[in-house]
This record gives sequence, structure tokens and C-alpha cells, in this order.
Amino acid sequence: MRVLSGIQPSGDSLHLGNYFGAIRQQIDLAKKHEALLFIADYHSMNSVRDAAQRREFTQGVALGYLACGLDPERTLLFRQSDVPQVTELAWMLSTVTPMGLLERGHAYKDKLASGQSADHGLFAYPVLQAADILIYHSDLVPVGQDQKQHIEMARDIAIRFNNTYGEDLLVVPEPYIPDEVAVVPGTDGRKMSKSYGNTIPMFAPPKQVKKAVMGIVTDSTPVEDPKDTSAAVFQLWSLFATPEEKESFFAKAKAGGMGYGDVKKDLLERVKAVFDPMRERREVLAAKPDELEDILAEGGRRARAIAEPVLDACRAAAGLGSPRQARGSRPQPA
Ligand code: TRP
Repeated sequence: MRVLSGIQPSGDSLHLGNYFGAIRQQIDLAKKHEALLFIADYHSMNSVRDAAQRREFTQGVALGYLACGLDPERTLLFRQSDVPQVTELAWMLSTVTPMGLLERGHAYKDKLASGQSADHGLFAYPVLQAADILIYHSDLVPVGQDQKQHIEMARDIAIRFNNTYGEDLLVVPEPYIPDEVAVVPGTDGRKMSKSYGNTIPMFAPPKQVKKAVMGIVTDSTPVEDPKDTSAAVFQLWSLFATPEEKESFFAKAKAGGMGYGDVKKDLLERVKAVFDPMRERREVLAAKPDELEDILAEGGRRARAIAEPVLDACRAAAGLGSPRQARGSRPQPA
């Protein structure tokens, strides 16, 4: 079984929401299955318009995943744009994608709803995403709830392409949305998100991490009173605890006598225990940009080796290119 994940390049700003909401599960899955993990730099062109920034963001994400323990020997870590074949497949797929399907896309609809006009790239975003998935014959795509629609579109598009040019050309992928994926609250109690400015960063300097943790919003319940364990500070704390620890800690909190200051201090210790070693690993890696580049280049090479035969089979089935290339046995994907 082949597992595929795509990640938007968002630079150094990875935070606990990214980690507990996605990265941790992706790395776990990658340990158990054949996995491909790419940084969606083509997709980022819809929002990032600066070349240097795109490179920096792309490297930042790669460093982040490596620091979190992704093993690049086992898992292909690469840039989307190092497999340009994906854009050719995207074109082919776009010819069997109804406008109506894309008009229902969340990203596109949201943009229009906010009164802005959308570029074609944003409108066609789900087609490129479908190509990302389908070009590697991916079986399983772990995503958050927000990406479910895109995976359903990819399935729909794959079925249409297969119906048109031949069954088995493309594998119809399954979404994987683990239901225990934590909703990670931010320091203000809303969902943790870069755009709300309520994040606890993974790799920021210790002082900044401390400031974020100590700044978690709490109510004015006196120390001796029972605490509401659905509050952000407790939900964040529980991300770092075993179910048994959580049960006894929450029982104590509900009994009263526990101060928020102490909860925050304990939370900070737990955050440090998990993320300090990762930050150090990240710093070591960041000091060796050549090695990072070697890893991404090798990942891209191995990804192309999977993508090329899939694309060739689609080209041949659609009657594209020289018939000489299409003769003989159809190339089989690795
Ligand atoms: N759209 C995804 C996001 O915003 C990123 C992405 C691009 C992706 N291509 C993908 C995710 C293919 C899974 C599979 O998070």
C-alpha cells in the first residue's frame, strides 16, 4: 500500500497544531507503509509570489519533517516541482473535469465569497492536487477534514479518466482521516492557526515558546475552585499526556486546588521535552544546506521513477506522442 501526503510550504512557522493535527500521523504512517511526502511548491504559487520566499518556505518544511524524525531513506521527501510530469497529467485530467465540480471547490468559493476574484490556478487547484495523488498510483491519502473534498474530487476525476481511456490507468485513492486527530486549540482557545496569531511554535527560540505557553488565555477561577478541563490550557496539556495521566490530572483539576500557573509550567516542561530535541536536530540540519538539497534531489529522482511510467501509460492510452513510444507492452508503474 502506498501512502501519499502533500504539504503546503509555510516556512518556519510550523506549530503544535500542525504537529498534532498532521505531522505526527504522517510520520507514523510513513514508518509503517511505503510513503511519499512532497512539498506543494506549485500549489503555493497561488498565494506566495516571491521566489526567495518560496525557496525558504520549502526548505523550512523539509527541515521540519526531518527534524520530527522522518527517515528520508525510507520515505520519499521531495519538492512537487521536481516532478514536472505532474503538470502534464493535470492537463489531461482537466479535460475530463466538469466545470461544475470545480465550481463547488471550497477554496475557490471562499475567495469569491470574500469579494475577491480568483485566478485560474486557484480554480484548477483540485485538478493539480488530483494529479499529485494519481501520478504515483497512491492508495491512501492522509488528510485533515478540510481536504476531504479535494480527495473526493481526485477520486471522481480518476474514475472519469479511467472510463474515458482505460480502466486501471489510475488508482482510485482512499482518503484517510483518522478520527482521533486532535483539534488543537490555540492560546486564545480558538483553533490553533497561523492566521489567528494564536500558535505555539515548534521551532522558535525557547523564550518565544515560553511566552506563548504562559500567554494561554485562562479564566479567573480561583485556585481552590474546580476547573473546567475543556479549557485550552488543559486540552493542550493533554496532548502531551498518556490517557492514564490525563484521567488523574483532570480529576484533580475538577476537585479544585490546582492553579493555572502550575498547569502552564508543567505544560511548558512537556513542550520542551518533546520539541527541544527536534529544534536542535533542525539547527544541525539547517547548517548543512547541501545535505538537505541532496535529500530532496534524491527524493525527486525516486518519485519521478514512479511517476514516469504512470504518465507514459496515460499518454499512450490517450493517443499522445509518437505511436512508436506507445507500441509494445504498456509500461507498468513501479
Ligand atoms: N491542498 C493540500 C493542503 O492545503 C496540500 C496538497 C497539495 C495535498 N497536493 C496534495 C495534500 C495531494 C494531499 C495530497 O493542505
